[in-house]
Amino acid sequence: MINLDRITKVFEHSGVDKVIALNSVSIEIKESEFVTIIGTNGSGKSTLLNAIAGKFICDSGNVILNSKNVTIDPEYKRANFIGRVFQNPFTGTSPNLSIFENLRIAELRGKPRGLKQGLTSSNRKHYKKILKKLEIGLEDRLDATVGLLSGGQRQALTLLMATIREPKILLLDEHTAALDPKTAEQIIKLTKKIVEESHLTTVMVTHSMSQALNLGNRTIMMHKGEIIGDLSGEKRERTKVKDLFNKFSELRKEELLDDELISMLQEGYY
Ligand SMILES: Nc1ncnc2c1ncn2[C@@H]1O[C@H](COP(=O)(O)OP(=O)(O)O)[C@@H](O)[C@H]1O
Ligand SMILES: [Mg+2]
Repeated sequence: MINLDRITKVFEHSGVDKVIALNSVSIEIKESEFVTIIGTNGSGKSTLLNAIAGKFICDSGNVILNSKNVTIDPEYKRANFIGRVFQNPFTGTSPNLSIFENLRIAELRGKPRGLKQGLTSSNRKHYKKILKKLEIGLEDRLDATVGLLSGGQRQALTLLMATIREPKILLLDEHTAALDPKTAEQIIKLTKKIVEESHLTTVMVTHSMSQALNLGNRTIMMHKGEIIGDLSGEKRERTKVKDLFNKFSELRKEELLDDELISMLQEGYY
C-alpha cells in the first residue's frame, strides 16, 4: 500500500549546514498493516509522514501509494486516500463551528461542488451514529461549538474527521502526546477500534516505547534520517520496552545526546 523507494529529503537552513531529514529511506508497508514509528528527536519521523502525504516533493526516490507512483503529485491529489491527525488537538478542527459543521466539512472536503448537498436531517442521524461510537457522549452535542470541547474530545473528533471519508491510509503524528495519560489511553483505544473496523493501513509516530511495541503489528525505529530497526512477528513479540531503551541507549555511546532525547527515553521507559 505504501512503498517508499530510497527517498531523500534535505532541508536548507540559512547559516547552518543543511539537514538530511531523510537519507535514502526505503520501506514497504502492506495493506492493513499498522506500523508504529519511534525515534530520537529530529530523526525524520514527521518528515517521513509528510513525504507520504505529499507536503513536499522529495529530492530523490519514489513514493508509491496504492500501486500508483505519486512521487510528484501534490498534497491535495493524495488527500483523497489519506487521513491525518497531528499532535495538537487544536489543528484538526474549526473552533468556531459546531461538531456537526466540522463533520460535514470533513465529509465534503475534496468532493465536487455538485455533490455538496445542504445540511440535512439524514446527515444528523448518520453523524449521531458515528459519534456514538466514540463513547464520550458527543452524539448529544451535535450543535456544540467545537472550541468548547476538551483537548481529548477534540482529538477524538479529529480522528473521526480524518477517517470519515474512508481513506486507505491513516497517518498519526504523536496524536496523543499533548493529552493527559487517561485521555491519551482513550484516544488510543479509539484509534485501535477505527483502524480495525476500517482495515486502514496506518503509520503512527509515537514517543512512547510501550505504545510503539503494543500497538499495531510492526515497529520501525528511526535515527538521523534513517531506519535503524524494523520489528515484526515473533521478533517484535519478544522485544520488551527495555530492549528498545537499550537500543537507543547504545546510540549514546556514539554521541552525546541532547536532553530531549534522554527525557524521551525515560518517558517511554517508565
Ligand atoms: N520545514 C522544515 N524546514 C527546515 N528543516 C526542517 C523542516 N522540517 C523538518 N526539518 C528538520 O529535519 C529534521 C527532521 O525533522 P522531523 O522529521 O520533524 O523530526 P522528528 O519528527 O523525528 O522529531 C530536523 O533536523 C528538523 O529540524
Ligand atoms: Mg515530529
